Amino acid sequence: MDDSILETIGSPLVEVDAPEGATIAAKLESRNPGGSAKDRPALWMIETAEEEGTLTPGDTIVEPTSGNTGIGIAMVGAAKGYDVRIVMPASKSPERRSIMNAYGADLELVEGDISDAKDRADEIEADEDAVQLRQFDNEANPRSHYETTGPEILEQIGDRTVDALVAGVGTGGTITGIGRRLRETFPEMEVVAVEPDDSAVLSGEEPTGDSFQGMGPGFISPNLDTDLVDSVEVCSAAAAEAECRRLAREEGIFVGQSSGASNLAAKRVAERLVDVGVDDPLVITVYWDSGERYVSTGMFDAE
Ligand SMILES: Cc1ncc(COP(=O)(O)O)c(C=O)c1O
Repeated sequence: MDDSILETIGSPLVEVDAPEGATIAAKLESRNPGGSAKDRPALWMIETAEEEGTLTPGDTIVEPTSGNTGIGIAMVGAAKGYDVRIVMPASKSPERRSIMNAYGADLELVEGDISDAKDRADEIEADEDAVQLRQFDNEANPRSHYETTGPEILEQIGDRTVDALVAGVGTGGTITGIGRRLRETFPEMEVVAVEPDDSAVLSGEEPTGDSFQGMGPGFISPNLDTDLVDSVEVCSAAAAEAECRRLAREEGIFVGQSSGASNLAAKRVAERLVDVGVDDPLVITVYWDSGERYVSTGMFDAE
């Protein structure tokens, strides 16, 4: 028996369909207690602030988020007894709002994108003496993946070698933390970032849209270790959503937009590695959350 819901953080690594001659394995992060990869940084940022004495019982936590970090913080806040205020762009899915409400968080919606939510969270932090965890800058965000997701993957692959890590980028915490840990064991491993075609800042483009929930913040996050990244793959929301429908119907795996995009990119990278003669390359990718968080968007209704 676990002492707390917070001890149940962790997820399976599942082999998924791959181009012939390659293996792709996906970290199924919807299996965390709050339903996404962001439970890990939420817990680590909160516990680091507690250790440093910047967060003490009775404090209010405020955070700008595209949803999953807010849900993670709301879940950890509920388990630990903190009040939580979340600032989220109104464009993000209604499921996210309902889940934060269920965990007892106060939610403020803002027009615009994550940068507008960040500005509003700064105001609340200053006016109401709330503690902001700053997921885009806080080193406990990538460290949570370095200390938990990375070691889990190393244990789950057994004696296999990882040839590439392919993952979407929001704050950059996931790809940076997992990438740093896996590269210690596999120095030759490629790290491939995935970003939306309408917010391809890593590819040097000006952002023109905000079509993904959680991926592509429109700026290069300080928490992304750009030195770690070997190349960038770009994906449209339409292609990612079609891949999510395929994953659900053909593989029984129900995931959200950024997972579909990362899976498409993982298949491209796997194919390239086979083409250059790597024998049965192993590509690791991440599925951040469940498709249940996107049902109201209608993305699973399309053919
Ligand atoms: C659905 C989803 N995908 C991808 C990401 C990107 O993860 P990271 O912020 O660790 O780069 C996030 C982050 O919030 C997310 O919510």
